[in-house]
Formats: sequence, structure tokens, C-alpha cells
Amino acid sequence: MKAITALYEAQKIVFSPFIFQAVYSMLELGIMDVLNDSKEGLDFDEISVQTNVSKYGVTVLVEMAETAQIVEEVTPGKFTLSKIGYFILRDEMTQVNLKFTQDVCYQGLFFLKDSITEVAPKGLKVFGEWKTIYEGLSELPVEVKKSWFDFDHYYSDNSFSDALAIIFKNNPKLIYDIGGNTGKWAIASTKFDSNVQVKIFDLPGQLKVAKSNIEKIEEIKNRVSYHEIDLLNPSSVIPEGADVYWMSQFLDCFSESEIESILLKIKANAKKDSTIFIMETFLDDQKFPAAKLSLAATSLYFTAMANGNSRMYSSSTLKYIIEKAGLVCVNEHNLHLDSFHTILEVKLF
Ligand SMILES: C[S@@+](CC[C@H](N)C(=O)[O-])C[C@H]1O[C@@H](n2cnc3c(N)ncnc32)[C@H](O)[C@@H]1O
Repeated sequence: MKAITALYEAQKIVFSPFIFQAVYSMLELGIMDVLNDSKEGLDFDEISVQTNVSKYGVTVLVEMAETAQIVEEVTPGKFTLSKIGYFILRDEMTQVNLKFTQDVCYQGLFFLKDSITEVAPKGLKVFGEWKTIYEGLSELPVEVKKSWFDFDHYYSDNSFSDALAIIFKNNPKLIYDIGGNTGKWAIASTKFDSNVQVKIFDLPGQLKVAKSNIEKIEEIKNRVSYHEIDLLNPSSVIPEGADVYWMSQFLDCFSESEIESILLKIKANAKKDSTIFIMETFLDDQKFPAAKLSLAATSLYFTAMANGNSRMYSSSTLKYIIEKAGLVCVNEHNLHLDSFHTILEVKLF
């Protein structure tokens, strides 16, 4: 890279909050939409008229976006969206990441350095005085909660159809869904197999939401049960009985030693022939650089907002912890349909 390019890239980084907020504002104010709709491009006056935003507002936002290659000047004084701008406007993953960044993380990231030095999510105080975001999830402001769940669901829902085929290959009768959240997996799996029973393990706030979602669905409501648990509590116990232990995007909410202790809690009471399925988006399994960047950023969400000590892991790290807990990873399923997820199939022997 030439020095002049590197210097430009360095400015993009040090001014990245300005660029981010400009993009967010342009989206919210409809400026991205009108630029996308115009083939020949629009000047500042035309954008101002079409969006009802002052010419001053349009000028500062579009000038920032143009220097960051989000809009292009097609003819002198006339602008359209660039390909980058188009993806910000239309790509679902980008939209979900943008709302998550703005609503959940933006303010709290100011405290990232403190979170690193104090090994605690110091940014979480912008929403409340909880030790982890999971304790306060059901009490977050409505918009924040929506962006959190959209982010969470975007990355897990797309993988469920592939995952169901893998988890049901040995016809489990009872599944423990650990960290079952709002019950999406419990709903998908009990609809997929009309005999299976699912027990959801989670913190009380999330279980309440799961229950209210599931109680509405007549065909499945009697096959789902609920178990309140705080897996960070050293005396918590995962009881016996399951054919399958399912953990989707769950273990990334914990530090390496906490993950080991959760695996040991499962091992302590599991039937000898039960199977543990761990679904994660692993850093070392990603085909696309955009996915890898999203995961690295998600780690910093864990640092500043969620718990201060967890992250998105590489599969090699998780396999090491599995082995350390005395369990055996017998299979690894890469879900190619959604291209993000891997399922580790783990046995006791
Ligand atoms: C990222 S969400 C994953 C939800 C879901 N399994 C999915 O695939 O979308 C993590 C879940 O773990 C739960 N969780 C976090 N810390 C927990 C703890 N200490 N004890 C029990 N559940 C916990 C959260 O409440 C949340 O529902």
C-alpha cells in the first residue's frame, strides 16, 4: 500500500464514528433511498426537496459519505449510491449489524478500554446496573431489545433448517435446549418432530418470554417445559435425562473456564449415550472476510456490553476445551446453506 493510501485509510479509521453516524442518519432520513432510486444522480437541492431535510443537512452528510465511497458523484454536483452504499441500504446482514451497532453498542463502546482493563462490561451501565447483559435483556429499552434480538436471530434462525436434520438423525425423544432464549429452537424442533419433548434452560427473564411465545401454539405447548437456571452459579445443576443437549450461540457468552465448567455440569449427569451439539459461528470457519469482521466486532460487544470476558471463538479453541472437560468431539458439521455456522457433535466417550 502506498503511504498516501495508508494515510487516507488511517483517517477513515480515526473518523469512523463520524462516517458511521453519517450513514445511520442518511438511512434514517431517507437520503440513501432517494439516491438509490435515481439513475442520473441528484444534486443537493433535489435531495433536500425529496427528503425534506435542509440543504445544509444534505450537504454535510453527502460530502462525508462521498469521501468514504458510500455515494458517488456521477456527473458534477450529482450523486448516487455506490455499491458500498447499496449494500448498506439493502443487504440484510449489514442492516442487522448496523442497528445492533447503533442501538446496542454505540454508547457503551466508549467504555471499551475500561472493560478490557477491568474485565467487566463497563459499557452496560448506559442501560442498567447488571453484571451481564443477559440479566437485563428483558428490561432493555424496546428499540435496543429489538435490535439485540434481530441480531441474535439473524445469525441463528438461518441455520435451524440445516441443524434440525443433523440433530434429529437419531430420533431424540428429549432435548435440553440450554440458553434457549425466546424459544425459537424449541418451537422449530417440536414442529419438526411431533413426538419430541424440549426443556428450555435459561435465566428467568428469557424463560418468561419463551413461555409466553410457546403457550400460544396449541400443537406444541404441552411438549415444552422450562428450567430456570443461572449457569454462572457454581451450585447450579443440569439434571439427567436428555438424549440431546443443544447449545446454539450459547457458549460464546462465557469465558473459556466457564465453558469448561458448563460442559462438566452436563457430563456430571448425562446418560452415557447422549449427544451434545454445539452450534457456533467460528472465526476459523468463515469463508468471507465480511463474516470474519462481524465476528471480531461481536467479540468486542461481549467485552464492552455483555459480560467482559467472552468472545467469538475459533473451533480449535472450543475443541481444546471439550477435550479438557474429558469429552470427545466425534463430528463437525459445516452448514453450507447459510455459510456461517458449524455444529460440533460431542459424546461422553
Ligand atoms: C446469544 S443467546 C442465544 C440464544 C439461542 N440459543 C439462539 O441460538 O439464538 C444466549 C442465551 O444464553 C442465556 N444465558 C446467558 N447467560 C446465562 C446464564 N448465566 N445462565 C443461563 N442462561 C444464560 C441468555 O439469557 C440467552 O438466552
